[in-house]
Amino acid sequence: MSTVESRPLIGAGVSRVDGPRKVTGAAPYPMDFSVPGQAYGALVQSTVAAGRIVRMHTEAAERAPGVVTVLTHENAPEVGTGPTTVLGASPPTPLRNDRIIHHGQHIAFVVAETPEQATAAARLVRADYEAAEPLLDLQDPRAEQLIDPWGMDHTRGDTAAALESAEVTLRATYTTADNTNNPLGLFATLAVWEGDTLTVHDTSQWPSMVRTTLSMVFGIPESSVRVLVPYVGGGFGAGLRVWPHVILTAMAARTVNRPVKLVLTRPQMFTSVGHRPSGVQWLSVGATREGELVALEHRSLSSLSMEDHDFEPFSSGTAFAYRCPNVTARDRQARLNIAVPTSMRAPAEAQGNFALESALDELSYTLGIDPLELRLRNHTAVDPRNGLPWSGKALLACYEIGGRHFGWADRNPEPRSMRDGNWLIGYGMASAIFPYFAQPCMAEATVNRDGSAFVRSAATDIGTGTYTVMAQLSAEELALPLDKVRFDLGDSDMPDSGMAGGSGLTGGLGNAVHDACRRLVRSFAGLAREDADSPLRGVDPDDVECGDGRVHLVGRPECGESYVDILARHGLPQLTATGSSTPPDPEELGMSLAGAYGAKFVEVRVDADLGLVRVARVVSAIDGGRILNEKTARSQIIGGTVGGIGMALLEDTVTDPRTGRIANGTFADYLVAVNADVPELDVVFVGEPDRGTATGTKGVGEIGLVGVAPAIANAVYHATGKRVRELPITLDALL
Ligand code: MOS
Repeated sequence: MSTVESRPLIGAGVSRVDGPRKVTGAAPYPMDFSVPGQAYGALVQSTVAAGRIVRMHTEAAERAPGVVTVLTHENAPEVGTGPTTVLGASPPTPLRNDRIIHHGQHIAFVVAETPEQATAAARLVRADYEAAEPLLDLQDPRAEQLIDPWGMDHTRGDTAAALESAEVTLRATYTTADNTNNPLGLFATLAVWEGDTLTVHDTSQWPSMVRTTLSMVFGIPESSVRVLVPYVGGGFGAGLRVWPHVILTAMAARTVNRPVKLVLTRPQMFTSVGHRPSGVQWLSVGATREGELVALEHRSLSSLSMEDHDFEPFSSGTAFAYRCPNVTARDRQARLNIAVPTSMRAPAEAQGNFALESALDELSYTLGIDPLELRLRNHTAVDPRNGLPWSGKALLACYEIGGRHFGWADRNPEPRSMRDGNWLIGYGMASAIFPYFAQPCMAEATVNRDGSAFVRSAATDIGTGTYTVMAQLSAEELALPLDKVRFDLGDSDMPDSGMAGGSGLTGGLGNAVHDACRRLVRSFAGLAREDADSPLRGVDPDDVECGDGRVHLVGRPECGESYVDILARHGLPQLTATGSSTPPDPEELGMSLAGAYGAKFVEVRVDADLGLVRVARVVSAIDGGRILNEKTARSQIIGGTVGGIGMALLEDTVTDPRTGRIANGTFADYLVAVNADVPELDVVFVGEPDRGTATGTKGVGEIGLVGVAPAIANAVYHATGKRVRELPITLDALL
């Protein structure tokens, strides 16, 4: 077998294999599926944020044209709860009782013959509430706080003493807003029961988990649930959990004994499928006058809903970002009457890195040291939590090559010193980390008699390129041309996969594909060994590799035969092998798994009179380990950068502090970065294949976003001399 080391760091920038299907409208997204006889669901949502329902008024809706049924907590069948996953407990079960925990909570589900009838009838449902005062302020002392909910708090050394004795100290508080994931595709669910068998088309980033959840909720075996999602329509994390509306749709379909389809409206997307939680972060930094960090204290408080857990350890990256002997990283979450938050692209790291990299920038000005030089002085080549070497960390190359691409050396260090007419020009930078993550995955690889192959797994392609990169990887592993290999996904009946999330799918699934293909090649070698007519008869499969659609002796392509010939002589239509992967164990490796690194360099232009901020240039130098496809990986970094620009300057889910209602829950009111906000984005990949994983990849889904917001904030400071510690940075902060 060829080794990882022998492969190119950066794979061919093949265009998406699913691209033509998408641009011609042939790719079915969850909302595109329909079955004969289906009814349509519509949600009724709470108009108060806290309290209880005294009475539901459903009579008018029940009498409305086309209505089949109206489910409320008074008549909904009892169901079970889903599993606890790596992202926490399942979101609260819908229609379980009369309790209201947030504005926009689903309080009824109307089923009717047409979507219009369901929507019209849903407007006729009323509720009498006994409203309570909602808790909406993150720092409200009455809010219950969860301390170290993820068990990731980190302490080393004596931070308090080191801060006390440090030559220079800096303390600052940073706040980040609620952001809403807002994938383009509206989330949709179509639930079809046949007896006790459930088939669901659902917007999900993780079909295997949806299957497990529905099996637990409805008390049926996993083998009786099938979840289909060949195309997702985007997610940014919103599809990582099984939301109440999914359970409601399946519950309703079972109740009315016919298929039911639900498509969320855009405003419902703001309360139904998660959001990036807001937070406050307190940074204390101690350093020598030469810029050596001696103490880092990073504490955070982020918002959480009343009945859920959400993964947001903001300070966790600070524990290993820099060589610093005294570190305290502590996270808390406060329970509020808000909709359930969830991972949104680069969860925790997006927020935590903003605070840390802003604080380091502030320190650099205090010390009069170049911001990039300050990072270089505190670089750590080993994991400072345990002293182990990293499986791959090319952050120094990110700094060097990114800085060169950007022209960092041309920067005048003085704030407010660079100008182009009325535009104040600022240069800012930040380091970026996204920690290693992977889940167990399985894949199945098959070579057919005609020389084609297909490989499959119950994974998803959320727009990131899974179809394409896994087809490329399979083709490489089987030594077949790309156009002979198909990768199938998006069906929970396929071998189990982890989530398309946490930047972990390419690694976890890639390693499973690698294993499946390797086993398949061995199976071919095994057939040949036992075959008197084969040139490989009697040959140990360990001495065989593949090349050019054939299995042959290692290093001797002439001594072997093709997959097709082996299948033909054995009268087999195809040969299949299953492979799996589990996350590598750092102890066994003797290395810390590195995850992705990056350095972000930004030029902003700020209108001196109006405070208008324009991002003029972004250079992202990324260590993503081995890059399977230059084009789709670059697109990931570009997409993440666009998200980072939105986080820095635009995105803010505004909750009315009296009612708990989201005040800007539409695409007209919730601002995201659009073409006019996004300049030319320069992306450069550096580094080496990761030594900790079989395929050498690190995952690039999130590293593109991390570091963009602080680099922008730091550039804004350099341009204007104004330090903004609150995201998003709006022009009122600069006037
Ligand atoms: Mo991503 S927030 O892990 O889909």
